[in-house]
Amino acid sequence: MCGIVGYVGSRDATEVVINGLQRLEYRGYDSAGIAIYDPTIGLQLRRSVGKLHNLQQRLAAEPTRGQIGIGHTRWATHGGVTEINAHPHRDASGTIVVIQNGIVENYLQLKGRLIELGYQFESQTDTEVIAKLVGLYYHQHRDLVTAVRQTLQELRGGNAIVAFCIHEPDTLVAARLGNAGGVVIGLGDNEQFIASDIPAILDYTRNLIFLEDRDVAVVRRHEVTITHLDGTPVERAIHAIPWDPIAAAKGDYRHFMQKEIDEQPRALMDVLRGRIDQEHGRIELTDIRLSDADLRRVRRIYAVACGTAWHAGLVAKFLIEQLARVRVEVDYASEFRYRNPILQSDDERDALLLAITQSGETVDTLAAMEEARNQGVSSVAIVNAIGSQAARLADGGPIYLHAGPEIGVASTKAFTSMLVAAYLFALRLAQARGTLTPAQIREHIQALIELPGKAAQTIEQTTPLCIKLAERYHKASNALFLGRQINYPIALEGALKLKEISYIHAEGYPAGEMKHGPIALIDEQMPVICIAPRDHIYEKMVSNIEQVRARHGQVIAIGHLGDELLAEKAHHLIGVPATLPLLQPVLNVIPLQIFAYHVAVLRGCDADQPRNLAKSVTVE
Ligand code: AGP
Repeated sequence: MCGIVGYVGSRDATEVVINGLQRLEYRGYDSAGIAIYDPTIGLQLRRSVGKLHNLQQRLAAEPTRGQIGIGHTRWATHGGVTEINAHPHRDASGTIVVIQNGIVENYLQLKGRLIELGYQFESQTDTEVIAKLVGLYYHQHRDLVTAVRQTLQELRGGNAIVAFCIHEPDTLVAARLGNAGGVVIGLGDNEQFIASDIPAILDYTRNLIFLEDRDVAVVRRHEVTITHLDGTPVERAIHAIPWDPIAAAKGDYRHFMQKEIDEQPRALMDVLRGRIDQEHGRIELTDIRLSDADLRRVRRIYAVACGTAWHAGLVAKFLIEQLARVRVEVDYASEFRYRNPILQSDDERDALLLAITQSGETVDTLAAMEEARNQGVSSVAIVNAIGSQAARLADGGPIYLHAGPEIGVASTKAFTSMLVAAYLFALRLAQARGTLTPAQIREHIQALIELPGKAAQTIEQTTPLCIKLAERYHKASNALFLGRQINYPIALEGALKLKEISYIHAEGYPAGEMKHGPIALIDEQMPVICIAPRDHIYEKMVSNIEQVRARHGQVIAIGHLGDELLAEKAHHLIGVPATLPLLQPVLNVIPLQIFAYHVAVLRGCDADQPRNLAKSVTVE
């Protein structure tokens, strides 16, 4: 959602802040602004609607200068997309500026109280209420961090905040409440950086501190001190992040999404690295803080996630139930906590929550983890972002994807890495429970070892045909994706990829359900993508393909390389290498990603930043 950047040091703060906001553009936003302070010039505020480019043009005409500053890209929640509503916002005296990521749920009550005290507001935002409140308390205490602490104690909701005051020109104050999105402090040499996400500051430092819920950080060029909201000091670990800033750059790709599709072979290697012992047929998940005894006690697992990650949860159900024989329920995280779930009876203590999230900051997924914690149920998180909230909320530990930054809003390498991470977790459970012997686990490990190479082969061999099919079908208004069993979630994922970046209405459906409705949609204009690997349900898929053909639907089949029967039954066969049936979804989804990408490009859509979407949904 919103992007936050702050800087204090001896560099040109404007350059650092704008560069950071550019690195966060992928998060989706609709306006941007910065505030820079210089003792000889004073406080300089520049804000604009639309893309960051508009703010940069504004700055070219009205430059700012200074060595302390904050910047923000806003995704409107309270108030329309206007310059007045763009952050930063000021207190009544115009000497304190504030940016925020999140929602103040009680801002109207606070605003009413301030209006009764004679305050006037220029914007419709909740953030301006924070700024005015900080100014009120600063007037009383003449100390910024005290004023911010007192303000935060009155806020309800999830908030990430950065503020500075011209009377304390060497100090930034950053704070986080709840799950509104991360606050990362980047430690430099006599300079410090603040951001809502790692890529914004990787050009300058890789030594990062992640604020926890209710942390307040006082950031000065020579030191960073962190306290709890009540003022008690807290210790936070310094994480050395391996992500190479270059890796976060697009390189010579046209879009991050295209780069990230191509990165999947390496990402699949990275998610396996250090976790498979081929010699002894064992799986090692060292970040998991659950013993074999803990894992043996697990009788039911709740997989919770959103969007693409939810599709990974549906695949995880098959993997865990087939390999470890543990029952799995899959919930949309946004539904989970509101259905008042009964996770376990008091005397059973045998449940485990499996959160799946690339960003580790999706507010609904985090709330589901808190629901589990409130019911005394441990959670494990399959997560990409190191040090993210989900990684830290998971008392059972994270299973990091190590996929590197995924910048494209449409998830690709994170999704296939999630599937392999879920596979590893299922094998780890099977190992603890004895449902698979080391010899059987060794077979799965062998298939996992071969997977990255097969993924590379899939990308190389299917891209030309995917481009050709994109050229043929990019003007379609609708598309239907069909799959069965473990490939039904892949049909859902293929539909989501196409709809979210090309805006074509696409639906994923269990193939067996087609005759209960969707078959009415099929005509000669409708591309129908059928996922039909040679597994136990292959014949059923072939007959579904024949039913589609009988209604003149255009069938694109995803099947095994060289499947002549499928080539005969379908209009087009996209052949992928064969692997174990439970691993096949990893390869089946790749051509669907490539197809969706090229359709989007041909339709002139922004494949990296689709309209209305954000990379991480940190507000409900
Ligand atoms: C996937 O292409 C979408 N960008 C979206 O559905 C995403 O998967 C969802 O918002 C969950 O994000 P998370 O994995 O970071 O929790």
